[in-house]
This record gives sequence, structure tokens and C-alpha cells, in this order.
Amino acid sequence: MARPDRPAPSAGFFEVLLNQRACRQFDGRPVDDDVLERCLEAAIHAPSAENKQPWVFVVVRDAATRHQIAELTRAAWRDGARSLSEGRLTPELLDDVERGIEIGLESAPVIVVVCGDRSIGHEVVLPSSVFPATQNLLLAANAVGLGSALTTLATLRGTELADLLDLPATARPMAVVPLGWPARQLGPPRRLPLAERVHVDRYGNPWGGSA
Ligand SMILES: Cc1cc2nc3c(=O)[nH]c(=O)nc-3n(C[C@H](O)[C@H](O)[C@H](O)COP(=O)(O)O)c2cc1C
Repeated sequence: MARPDRPAPSAGFFEVLLNQRACRQFDGRPVDDDVLERCLEAAIHAPSAENKQPWVFVVVRDAATRHQIAELTRAAWRDGARSLSEGRLTPELLDDVERGIEIGLESAPVIVVVCGDRSIGHEVVLPSSVFPATQNLLLAANAVGLGSALTTLATLRGTELADLLDLPATARPMAVVPLGWPARQLGPPRRLPLAERVHVDRYGNPWGGSA
């Protein structure tokens, strides 16, 4: 039997994928529920171990709760994350992250807190099940023109964050994703060439190198 034709690769998909960036400043316009729902639908179509779908998304629109999430993030930043990051991030990235923490996060009209629930999925594979869904959320956001960022700083204050959101004891916050219309265009992401990270047959034989 003839194999059905594969769909042609979609230029739109690769355009979205190759231009996905962390957006940390938003222009203040609201995000409608229907737009948000498309992104969440994309998120829950991710793979997960045993197809348990152990993700839990808390969509935070309430200004006071967004403020408290931003406060927790600032506290984690000031209580050690900043000094750790100083030696690891470029000055430009450090600035951008800091501005995101001080101003951007709270100004996003929506913050999605992504959690993993160990009563649904096995603890060992919770992060590897939850982060593909988070990545789908980021890509879908980019596809509809929203800015987004995968952030984890607030999860250093996971207990307080869980209390704030009334999470059940089995749910652990794993990522905090601000969503909003970007304040500015970010340009293409900077990434290393394939040969720096891809090896053929064995480590040390870079992709694209001569045999
Ligand atoms: C596991 C993980 C944790 C991250 N945590 C934060 C964070 O707490 N705050 C933040 O502003 N960005 C965070 N980021 C975003 C990265 O800084 C960003 O993906 C990276 O610098 C690439 O930048 P680009 O998206 O502009 O290309 C995180 C990304 C990942 C994958």
C-alpha cells in the first residue's frame, strides 16, 4: 500500500521555532482568553511519560497575585541568585534578566505558573514531562505574537509560591511564564552552530566536519 504523502514542512512552523526568544518587557495591552486558550491547548498536546499529563497550569491574571509572584522572584534574585548570575551571565543578559525581574514580570498581563503533580505522574519524570508542555506554550505564544519567557527563579521560593496559589501538597511549581504583547521586537536568537554541539557516531566527530 502506498504511504500517504507526508505534509510538506511548514515555513510558518520553522519561522516560529527559529525566532522564539525570552521576552521580558510587555506593552501593557491585555491578552484575551481565546488567545490564551490556544496557547494552553498547544501546551497540553506535549508528550509526557506514560501519557500521564502531570502538568498543572495556574493562569494568574489577578494583579495582586502577579505582584506577589514578582515579589517572590525579586526576593530569590536578591538573596543569592543575582550574585550567582553575575559571574555566569553576559552583562547584557544580566541587565535584561534584572529588568525583567524588577519591571517586566509584574507588568505581564498574565503569568502562567507551570507545575508538576506527583500524584499524577512519577516524581522521577515530572520535570521531563512538564518542560515539553512549557516549551509548547512558549512556541504557541510566539506563533500568536505574544511574548513569553520560561523563568524558574520564583521556584526557588516554591513553598511560598505554592501557598500563594493554594496548590495541593503534591503539586510543585516548576516554571513561571509571563505572557503579554512584547514591548519591542527582539531579533533572532543567538545560538552556537550545530558543529559545536552535534557529534556523528561518536563524541568529537562534529556534524558537518570531514570524516
Ligand atoms: C531552565 C531555564 C530557566 C530559566 N530561568 C530564567 C529566569 O529565571 N529568568 C529569566 O529571565 N530567564 C530565564 N530563562 C530564559 C533564558 O535566560 C533564555 O532562554 C536564554 O538566555 C536564551 O535567550 P533567548 O531566549 O533570548 O535566545 C530560563 C531558561 C531556562 C531553559
